[in-house]
Amino acid sequence: MPCHIIALANQKGGVGKTTTAINLAACLAERRQRVLLIDLDPQANSTSGLGLQPSPGCSVYEALLGHGKLADKVQPTAMEHLFLIPSEVDLAGAEVDIARLDRYLHRFKEALDPLLATTTFDVVLVDCPPSLGILTMNALTAVQSVIIPLQCEYYALEGLSVITRLISQIRDSGANPTLDIEGIVLTMYDGRTNLAQQVVEEVRKHFGDKVYHAAIPRNIRISEAPSHGKPIILYDEKSSGAEAYRALAKEFLKQKKEEAISVTLPEPVPSSPASAPPSPPVDASTCPPG
Ligand SMILES: Nc1ncnc2c1ncn2[C@@H]1O[C@H](COP(=O)(O)OP(=O)(O)OP(=O)(O)O)[C@@H](O)[C@H]1O
Ligand SMILES: [Mg+2]
Repeated sequence: MPCHIIALANQKGGVGKTTTAINLAACLAERRQRVLLIDLDPQANSTSGLGLQPSPGCSVYEALLGHGKLADKVQPTAMEHLFLIPSEVDLAGAEVDIARLDRYLHRFKEALDPLLATTTFDVVLVDCPPSLGILTMNALTAVQSVIIPLQCEYYALEGLSVITRLISQIRDSGANPTLDIEGIVLTMYDGRTNLAQQVVEEVRKHFGDKVYHAAIPRNIRISEAPSHGKPIILYDEKSSGAEAYRALAKEFLKQKKEEAISVTLPEPVPSSPASAPPSPPVDASTCPPG
């Protein structure tokens, strides 16, 4: 399979971007996918959530400015198939520094391409900050598609229209002409509340198949795991949260496999007149006059 490069983005804070980035990455790695998680958020929650320290010089920052190679920043994690490029606090300054440079939207892509040309990953996930600033725009310019984590609350749909509009703008501007929504994942879902059910109904009405069937329930074990520096499948592998993220990874891979098959299947050959099936008998009564 080709490498899938996907951002986890939503300008709204605290909706489960980082939790989904860490746990989807871990569950894909568990399925023997080689996964690279890139922490593009100066808060460095993906970094600490995987038990690594955000330290000066460890992040994408220098590579965004055109110094050094991103390949040197890749670190192993506790899982054999999962790798991380950490974040650091200084990354906050990148917003200002990059804005002054040429091709400021393409900085992350230009750093990422050489890494992907030399190292084989099946999936690259990019955890974005809760804003639509230059870091998120760089992520959206570099990736193939976006997973939008969505918390089922009153303003969810308004928030969703903001990020989907930005995706369209980046696509239409030519910065990333094939950018698409990969999927919408419902997070902290509580199916017992009417509000959650109404939000899901509305989102499915607008986005149909783009909404993953695997919804992530609100689960205390998920929120405890990062303070132990572990994804949920290592912290409590029997929890409902672990089950849900495993289901999400399975659904993700199934979709990717189906897409790959539909791309590689040969076009159906148009049948030649000789082998064409016989025409149905013509019912004279239905023929137009003349
Ligand atoms: N399914 C869940 N069940 C319980 N708590 C959750 C769940 N998902 C996320 N949380 C908690 O909600 C908070 C916000 O989640 P997270 O950090 O993943 O959101 P985020 O969108 O990355 O936030 P930010 O916008 O600040 O980067 C965290 O404390 C996290 O542990
Ligand atoms: Mg986050």
